[in-house]
Amino acid sequence: MTTRRSFLRQSATLVAAAGVPRAFWRLARHRAESSPPVIDPASLERFVDPLPLPVLARPLGRRAAPENSREPVPFYRVSLRATSQKLHRDLSPTNLWTYGGSVPGVMFETQTGQGQIVEWENDLPPRHFLPVDHAVHGAGPDTPEVRTVVHLHGGKTPPESDGYPEEWSVPGQSRAYYYPNQQDATLLWYHDHAIGITRLNIYAGLLGLYVIRSEEERQLQLPSGKYEVPLVLFDRHVRLDGQLSYPYPWMAEVRGEVPLVNGKIFPYLEVEPRKYRIRVLNAANGRLYRLSMPDGVEIYQIGADQGLLPAPVLVTQVELASAERADLIIDFAPHRGNRLQLLDDAFTLMEFRVSAAPVADPSKLPATLRTVVRITESAAIKTRWLTLDELKKGMSGTAGMLLNKTPWHVPITEKPVLGSTEIWELANLTEDVHPIHLHLVRFQILDRRRFDVFQYVSTGTLRYRGPAIPPEVSEMGWKDTVRVDPQTVTRIVVPFEGYSGRYVWHCHNLEHEDNEMMRPYAVLAAGN
Ligand code: C2O
Ligand code: CU
Ligand code: CU
Repeated sequence: MTTRRSFLRQSATLVAAAGVPRAFWRLARHRAESSPPVIDPASLERFVDPLPLPVLARPLGRRAAPENSREPVPFYRVSLRATSQKLHRDLSPTNLWTYGGSVPGVMFETQTGQGQIVEWENDLPPRHFLPVDHAVHGAGPDTPEVRTVVHLHGGKTPPESDGYPEEWSVPGQSRAYYYPNQQDATLLWYHDHAIGITRLNIYAGLLGLYVIRSEEERQLQLPSGKYEVPLVLFDRHVRLDGQLSYPYPWMAEVRGEVPLVNGKIFPYLEVEPRKYRIRVLNAANGRLYRLSMPDGVEIYQIGADQGLLPAPVLVTQVELASAERADLIIDFAPHRGNRLQLLDDAFTLMEFRVSAAPVADPSKLPATLRTVVRITESAAIKTRWLTLDELKKGMSGTAGMLLNKTPWHVPITEKPVLGSTEIWELANLTEDVHPIHLHLVRFQILDRRRFDVFQYVSTGTLRYRGPAIPPEVSEMGWKDTVRVDPQTVTRIVVPFEGYSGRYVWHCHNLEHEDNEMMRPYAVLAAGN
């Protein structure tokens, strides 16, 4: 009898037979024998540090944009440098790598249509402080240990400024990238994307926020200024001496014991009894957050990755896979004088302390936010079937992950035409959730549908095991990252707009992305 387990092993063999190069199997190695002792978060006093807020980036002046018919645009320079930062009152400072001196890095704030140039200057030390696994593709012993390239996640960015994973620079070098910001208002984020070590660089702290605003959004009179609070969530293994620990060799799942919000462990935020706009990013390497508040606290989700939803949605939970964002409104008015904790399934994250005296609240939570036209399936000129695959090594453990059974270095197979719309059917053959992200574009989720993976892999025939489920109401806006559940086909409809050129799509579980759940794709100029 073939059990499901042995079937998964078989399917790995099938994948191997289907042309995965031998070198891939080099990755079959032993686990780290012992890892250093790490902090048990229960030993740390909670809510003793105020929530830090990101520092705003300031332009140095103006420079001519690459499209030089335009006026000069704001110019920024950000230094990538090592620093140390206290993650908690009772811990020694932690060594981190930063964009501009803190984690999260400096925050950009701009307007729809207002382009800008950022010069990213690599001032990092020559050696990495986290263990580089040279067996991982793109991080071979012949490559420099410290390499970085910046990507603006969710940005509609020309290819030469998008941060192609192989276009890294080394300490002492810098790269000026142009961000046109010709896209709707939303919360983006920027982070490292260097091939083979992205997981280490982001874990080290190379991530930051990037907000695009618009006049339409301003007219809604949502809570703003100090009543708009970004929350960047990630987790880490923290050693007893306060330093970060990251497993070696490569492992498919890395989840830290310690939760951080804006770079602090268990912070608190003093709030007034009124509405707040809370903008959450899951910047964790591989953790899925399921956020909630105590009973009686209403959370309205007003936006997702690529901007506002059509209307606010009252939610009891906010589920965010790596790289997803949620725009929330929480009204603290009914909770004067209370302490309310933001929770996840696994963690308590932080505390809101609501002051007692009533305050005026001129901000609004409008009943409708904007029009999001649903793209019809018939708008698509092409449908691609793309599998998400796991390669097993031996009885247990993972040798790597692939998209469509194709490693990174194989020539480009996905070539949509600029201006056309396609449906991508993402068929997850694994038992993990994979957050799939496409650079350049925004898309809409059509549906998710469970299927019989066993039958599909053994006979090649597709048998669905249930009806197609429409996306959650909170996913009905524009997205750039989609949660693809195990043994499920997730369909997205994608207009390829903006620029032609070479981009990437990948799983945003950073351990998967690095080994090698990432593929280049090319947008072809129309008429080619
Ligand atoms: Cu968040 Cu390829 O990126
Ligand atoms: Cu991206
Ligand atoms: Cu994945």
